[in-house]
Amino acid sequence: MRLSWLFPGWTLISSASAYQNTTISPNCQNACQLLQVAFGPTAVQYFAQDNFTIWDAKQQEVRYACRFEPSNTTDVAAGLRILTGAWCNFAVKCGGHSRDPDFSSSVGGVTIDLKNMNGVEAANNGTRARIGGGAVTADVYAALDARNLTFAGGRVGSVGVGGFATGGGTSPLASRHGWAIDSIYEYELVLPNATVVTVDEHQHPELYWALRGAGGGNFGIITSFVIQNFPQGQLYAGSRAWNGNYTERVIDEVYNLYTSQDNNSNMSLEYYYGYVARSDNYSLAANVRYYDPVEDPQVFDRLDSIPAIARSQRNITLGNLAGPGHIPATPPPLRHLFQTTTNFPSREWLQNSLRIFREEIGEVKSVEGINPQLITYPIPSRAIRGMTVRGGNALGLNGVQGPLFVTLLSTAWASAEDDARVGEFYDRVFKKLEDSAQSLNVYHPYKYIGYGRLGQDIFSSYGEANNERLVQVQESVDPQGIFTSGGLCHGGFKLR
Ligand SMILES: Cc1cc2nc3c(=O)[nH]c(=O)nc-3n(C[C@H](O)[C@H](O)[C@H](O)COP(=O)(O)OP(=O)(O)OC[C@H]3O[C@@H](n4cnc5c(N)ncnc54)[C@H](O)[C@@H]3O)c2cc1C
Ligand SMILES: *[C@@H]1O[C@H](CO)[C@@H](O)[C@H](O)[C@H]1NC(C)=O
Ligand SMILES: *[C@@H]1O[C@H](CO)[C@@H](O)[C@H](O)[C@H]1NC(C)=O
Ligand SMILES: *[C@@H]1O[C@H](CO)[C@@H](O)[C@H](O)[C@H]1NC(C)=O
Ligand SMILES: *[C@@H]1O[C@H](CO)[C@@H](O)[C@H](O)[C@H]1NC(C)=O
Ligand SMILES: *[C@@H]1O[C@H](CO)[C@@H](O)[C@H](O)[C@H]1NC(C)=O
Ligand SMILES: *[C@@H]1O[C@H](CO)[C@@H](O)[C@H](O)[C@H]1NC(C)=O
Ligand SMILES: *[C@@H]1O[C@H](CO)[C@@H](O)[C@H](O)[C@H]1NC(C)=O
Ligand SMILES: *[C@@H]1O[C@H](CO)[C@@H](O)[C@H](O)[C@H]1NC(C)=O
Ligand SMILES: *[C@@H]1O[C@H](CO)[C@@H](O)[C@H](O)[C@H]1NC(C)=O
Ligand SMILES: *[C@@H]1O[C@H](CO)[C@@H](O)[C@H](O)[C@H]1NC(C)=O
Ligand SMILES: *[C@@H]1O[C@H](CO)[C@@H](O)[C@H](O)[C@H]1NC(C)=O
Repeated sequence: MRLSWLFPGWTLISSASAYQNTTISPNCQNACQLLQVAFGPTAVQYFAQDNFTIWDAKQQEVRYACRFEPSNTTDVAAGLRILTGAWCNFAVKCGGHSRDPDFSSSVGGVTIDLKNMNGVEAANNGTRARIGGGAVTADVYAALDARNLTFAGGRVGSVGVGGFATGGGTSPLASRHGWAIDSIYEYELVLPNATVVTVDEHQHPELYWALRGAGGGNFGIITSFVIQNFPQGQLYAGSRAWNGNYTERVIDEVYNLYTSQDNNSNMSLEYYYGYVARSDNYSLAANVRYYDPVEDPQVFDRLDSIPAIARSQRNITLGNLAGPGHIPATPPPLRHLFQTTTNFPSREWLQNSLRIFREEIGEVKSVEGINPQLITYPIPSRAIRGMTVRGGNALGLNGVQGPLFVTLLSTAWASAEDDARVGEFYDRVFKKLEDSAQSLNVYHPYKYIGYGRLGQDIFSSYGEANNERLVQVQESVDPQGIFTSGGLCHGGFKLR
């Protein structure tokens, strides 16, 4: 039975956690003991012995052998040696924003939680910063905000840089600074054989290319990043909400902004179209930003000529906008599903996507706690052009005529009993979204890994040549296949 999160301190007992009976292998019991001997009791936590909280309920339910919390690169390498020596499965966690078990919460094995490795040090007179492999977005914004600097960070403070800045990293600043992976100068990486290497344009260039796009978890454990900083003080941040009468007009105007302002490097926006179970209707909201503190930026005048039911605006730093870095234990986490698709701009497709969402919502209206949000925003031409720097990245978007539209359907719900129903809703919606894109001749195969659903063929979507090249890089650094679907670190989107 599920207990309400209205009662703080009560724990969520999911009706049928598939993991409550996971047995811990002797190998992993042994590994946890060895880790504890090597690093002491504070670096090793056992399941259910503290208030460990991770973003998604499906990962929260996972029964792991123990959690190892290394404090530096040497410890990560030594810990990895212990795990491979004991032949115990493991998962690597940064911000923990994945949606499936074993991505960053190990089923029956060891979760290597990098949370203590979250330092941020400005370097080169503030043009760069070195950040720990366990830093979350809020850690980086906070350190840089204080110096009127920023980076190509994301929208939510608790998202880990580890997953974000290896898969793509779509930023509210993308129209000025591109995607996060294209402003990373260097990775420090613990290879599968526990050797520590510095990966940059000149040292291990193949790995440098591969790390920028393949997500975490295919080549080893990243213990630090060197990122590019940008000057940034407060920015203008607004939000708007409209009633259902204005949906089509708003989407039309959003389309105009996404396309006509493609090369405007002063602003960004995105909308959220949701189903509201409480009132059995739909919500439409948008976040708008102008990168200087101003009053009523003119670029949003036409959008603002549409009557809104709510409108707010403020001057704020990105760190304050993105919010805190921690995941609170109450309310307990919900279950989530993400899935993504990409297409070339089409006004008609954008309008169709909302209609498709409404057509298919019926079956999941009664899902307890359902909160689906359909989000489409552009990959600006600026960001696509930025994908060629320092040898390019692995995403396969070089030379594509921008902007592209990337779509995320993000749904939260409460109970495991509804997992299949939500999954089938996604199957139907994405079939129709992609059929619509195909028939309008605006389909693009690219799938953003950060918004990927398990089972989506992310790496094929980068193009066959890139996929093969990524697999080759993986094989060359991991001949034993430790970080593959058949290996010890088998969760997440794997190249092989
Ligand atoms: C609420 C929310 C908001 C989001 N907002 C944005 C956004 O604005 N822009 C955007 O682009 N994306 C966004 N995302 C998507 C997000 O970038 C991805 O889900 C990303 O993978 C999360 O990274 P993480 O470190 O938090 O997750 P984790 O689950 O900790 O990690 C993801 C994967 O990377 C691996 N990994 C993480 N760190 C390391 C490391 N140091 N070394 C090796 N492997 C590692 C993990 O093992 C795991 O397989 C958002 C997601 C959520 C849930
Ligand atoms: C876990 O084990 C108990 C006792 O054997 C059993 O009743 C229960 O159904 C199992 N749960 C799952 C999800 O398999
Ligand atoms: C977990 O949280 C509860 C409630 O906040 C607190 O009373 C308890 O001491 C915490 N337990 C641990 C091990 O931190
Ligand atoms: C790494 O952290 C450990 C504590 O776990 C400490 O003993 C060790 O000196 C640190 N090593 C380095 C190189 O900082
Ligand atoms: C920082 O800038 C000053 C002045 O330009 C220069 O003298 C100094 O060498 C720079 N330091 C670094 C670390 O680049
Ligand atoms: C940051 O910019 C603001 C506004 O221009 C200024 O008041 C403040 O002193 C600056 N802070 C730093 C550390 O430079
Ligand atoms: C949805 O319905 C509720 C209650 O009837 C109403 O208050 C709200 O304004 C409606 N929302 C929209 C976006 O139409
Ligand atoms: C749409 O407009 C009409 C007329 O103003 C109004 O009665 C109705 O409530 C509006 N619909 C919504 C969803 O707000
Ligand atoms: C943006 O600039 C690029 C390069 O100059 C150009 O190819 C593209 O068409 C421009 N986009 C728009 C919408 O004008
Ligand atoms: C962006 O801002 C700069 C500096 O304020 C300004 O010169 C430029 O014209 C703006 N660009 C657009 C497209 O508004
Ligand atoms: C943001 O700051 C500018 C410059 O100080 C000011 O003119 C404007 O009114 C502020 N905007 C908001 C929304 O507070
Ligand atoms: C570890 O793997 C790397 C990459 O394959 C290789 O160059 C290095 O020689 C290996 N080190 C050891 C000690 O085996």
